[in-house]
This record gives sequence, structure tokens and C-alpha cells, in this order.
Amino acid sequence: MEYVVTTRELTRVFGSFVAVNKISMNIKQGEIYGFLGPNGSGKSTTIRMLCGILEPTSGSGTVLGYDLAREAEKIKRKIGYMSQKFSLYDDLTVYENLDFYAGVYDIPRRERKTRIPEMIEMAMLKGREDEMAVNLSSGWKQRLALGCAIISRPSILFLDEPTSGISPTSRRQFFKIIQKMAVEGTTVMVTTHFMDEAEHCYRIAFIAEGNLIADDTPENLKNNVIQGCLAEVSLPDALYKVDDLEKLPYVKECSIHGPLLHVLLESQSRIEELDRYTGVKARIIKPSLEDVFIFLAKQKKGG
Ligand SMILES: Nc1ncnc2c1ncn2[C@@H]1O[C@H](COP(=O)(O)OP(=O)(O)OP(=O)(O)O)[C@@H](O)[C@H]1O
Ligand SMILES: [Mg+2]
Repeated sequence: MEYVVTTRELTRVFGSFVAVNKISMNIKQGEIYGFLGPNGSGKSTTIRMLCGILEPTSGSGTVLGYDLAREAEKIKRKIGYMSQKFSLYDDLTVYENLDFYAGVYDIPRRERKTRIPEMIEMAMLKGREDEMAVNLSSGWKQRLALGCAIISRPSILFLDEPTSGISPTSRRQFFKIIQKMAVEGTTVMVTTHFMDEAEHCYRIAFIAEGNLIADDTPENLKNNVIQGCLAEVSLPDALYKVDDLEKLPYVKECSIHGPLLHVLLESQSRIEELDRYTGVKARIIKPSLEDVFIFLAKQKKGG
């Protein structure tokens, strides 16, 4: 199997702080690879190394067969990248922004005549070609930024939180475009804090404090990561019960999900004890991705 991204013990240190610690991963062509983890866990730093923008401190890696340390310039020209703080030119129109990025990638004038309208179509911005970028809503801006990032038709695309700050409808539209690209063969690595988007990834890597602590399909993560029996409990003032429940010897952890509590028990045999303690009947549930991530993030913190 050919991988389009491989890393071995990829590491980045800032001063004495290890932001990314010996990450090894492989991404297949045409895969949507989700990159998840708490704030400050090293997602953007990893992506910036993969894009050839930030030099690794140690370890190695390749993107599209190019070496991260020695061929960063080639990588930069071959990939598409939408950074967490992507930049559009506010005082340029939709069309002019796309034309500008086409220039950055040296796309010949002739080709731009077809590519720019293609991007406008993809980004659902038809009829808005002459609008100033500054006047677009954030969902439209995000799609325009995506258009700018893929105007060179890259075979791999790195998206760093592309859907933060936009409405659920816009997020869904954005993700549909990504899914379509993946089906057509583009590899997409995307960071997100949204579980519904994570569900759409073919594979998910979870990073905490710079360490890669899980890397699997969403289904396998839900089935295999959490050790124990997860129960859902409905209690009044649930928020104030979390600490007490976590102190019970047979409770591994407890988290709040809307008005409900998710209680992770050592084993299913403890459910009656829990029912006696709370005075209500708990329901055994299958872990969601969110449960998995809370579990992983807490585990890391606990040591
Ligand atoms: N240029 C830098 N100099 C010093 N520290 C940095 C630099 N860039 C990142 N860091 C630190 O490295 C850690 C990881 O940052 P990074 O931006 O990769 O996290 P992230 O997972 O993308 O977080 P978020 O979800 O908030 O975007 C943070 O503690 C950050 O402060
Ligand atoms: Mg980030």
C-alpha cells in the first residue's frame, strides 16, 4: 500500500517545550483523515510541518513522496493548505482573490479562465464573483478560502479547523465538498472539534499534549477504546453530581452531556450499585465519539 503521508517519530520543540512528540502516522490516498485533540495539543504544529512550512526538530516524514526536511519547497507547491487563520484579501473581490491565488501557484492565464469559474461553482458563489471578500458571510468566506486553497488542483489538502465559527448548515455544505473531493481521489487531512465531522472521517487520529494516543476508524474507536461499561443517568442538577459520582470506587469517570450524565463503570455488574446510589435507573449505552474523546483526553491528563 502506498501512503501519501508518512511520518516517523516526527517531533517539534519550541525552546524547551515539546509541542509534537514522536508522532508516527500513515495516510492513504483518497482518505479523509481527521485530526482531533484538545486546544494546544499540537494539531496545527503537526499540519504546518506536513505542509513544509515548519521545520521538524527531529524525526522524519514524507508527503507525496517528498521528504519533509529536504524537499519542503516542493511539498509547498504540491499541496493545498487552508490554515486556521486563512487569509483572504478583504479589498479584493471573490474573483480577484481566486485570481491572486492562481498567480501564487503560477497557473497560466489561459487555464485560470476555466479554473476560477470552477472554484466559484464549487464554492457555491455563483453570482457573487464581483463582491468584495470583506462583505461575504463567514460560511461563504470559508468556501472561498477553500477555493483558493485548491485552485491548483492539489492531490492532497490540509485543512486546519476549516469550519470553526460557521453555522451548522455552512459546516455541512463545506464538509460535503470535502467528501466529494475525497471520493474523486483527493486525500484530505482535517482538524476539527466537531464530532459530527469526525464521524465522516475514514480514520481519526487523536493527539493530546503532543502525543498521538489513538489512530483508527471511528467505528473501531467507539468499540475498542473505552474499557468498562458506559451508563447514562438522568438526575436533577446533574452538573453538581459529577464530582461525587467520580469518587465512587466502581466509577472510572463521569461526564455531563446536556442534562444527562455518562458514567463509566468498571463493569456491567456495578449498575445496580449505581442505581441504588442515585435512586434512578441507569441505561447502558454505546459510547459515542464524544465519549471516546473525553475518555482519551482525561486519561492523558491522569497520567
Ligand atoms: N511558534 C511557536 N512558538 C512557541 N510555542 C508554540 C509555537 N507554535 C505553537 N506553540 C505551542 O505549541 C503547542 C501546540 O500548539 P498548536 O497550535 O499546534 O495546538 P493545536 O492543537 O492546533 O491547538 P488549537 O486546537 O487551539 O488550534 C501550544 O502550547 C502552543 O502554544
Ligand atoms: Mg490549531
